[in-house]
Amino acid sequence: MITEVRLRPLRNADFDRVLQLERQLFGRGAWTYGMLADELAGLGRWYIVAEPERLDRAGEQPVVGYAGLWFDGDVTQIMTIGVDPDVQRHGVGRQLMDALIERSRKVKAEAVLLEVRVDNQPAIEMYRDFDFEILGVRKRYYQPEDVDAYTMRLDLNAAAHPTDAPVESPVDAPNDTPDDATGDAA
Ligand SMILES: CC(C)(COP(=O)(O)OP(=O)(O)OC[C@H]1O[C@@H](n2cnc3c(N)ncnc32)[C@H](O)[C@@H]1OP(=O)(O)O)[C@@H](O)C(=O)NCCC(=O)NCCS
Repeated sequence: MITEVRLRPLRNADFDRVLQLERQLFGRGAWTYGMLADELAGLGRWYIVAEPERLDRAGEQPVVGYAGLWFDGDVTQIMTIGVDPDVQRHGVGRQLMDALIERSRKVKAEAVLLEVRVDNQPAIEMYRDFDFEILGVRKRYYQPEDVDAYTMRLDLNAAAHPTDAPVESPVDAPNDTPDDATGDAA
């Protein structure tokens, strides 16, 4: 059982594990290796993973969560977020969201946008809890599943989330190693 997680930048070495989680979490809609590589090579991307810190084991552990955003100069868009089903509902998703929002504030984004399946209640509950509001519906957004998406928005100018308190971020500089896959254009 994990005791807590630490966040760090997503690296090339994490690809296999992240894609494994993708398939587990998103089934037919999962990103492929090529999609993930293309995504991470894009401008303004910022991706992190959550690594468990176990008291009984040393060294790196298989990551249990991942998330990423795209900053286009005005707003950030949450591109993905996922947590290992075995450790869901233990606060990892919340930690990843805190980091994404913190990053969005840091790059001075006006808002954070995302899409979520209309039937994805756990995720919708989490986003609502972070004060995201539903903007509208994108019909048949998710393919091949053919499911509608809600678009949701968190206005960073208006919102004052409890996590506004200064936090020490271990993931401020995700691109400081040669094999980093993230494109931190911000
Ligand atoms: C959405 C997801 C990332 C949440 O991760 P998590 O680690 O389980 O989330 P947390 O434990 O930090 O919970 C944060 C909040 O989300 C909401 N939440 C999470 N799981 C929930 C569930 N099964 N039912 C209702 N609300 C839920 C709650 O508000 C929760 O706060 P609380 O525990 O104080 O009540 C996870 O369920 C997941 O990976 N889902 C599959 C992938 C996915 O759908 N990603 C989103 C794509 S848009």
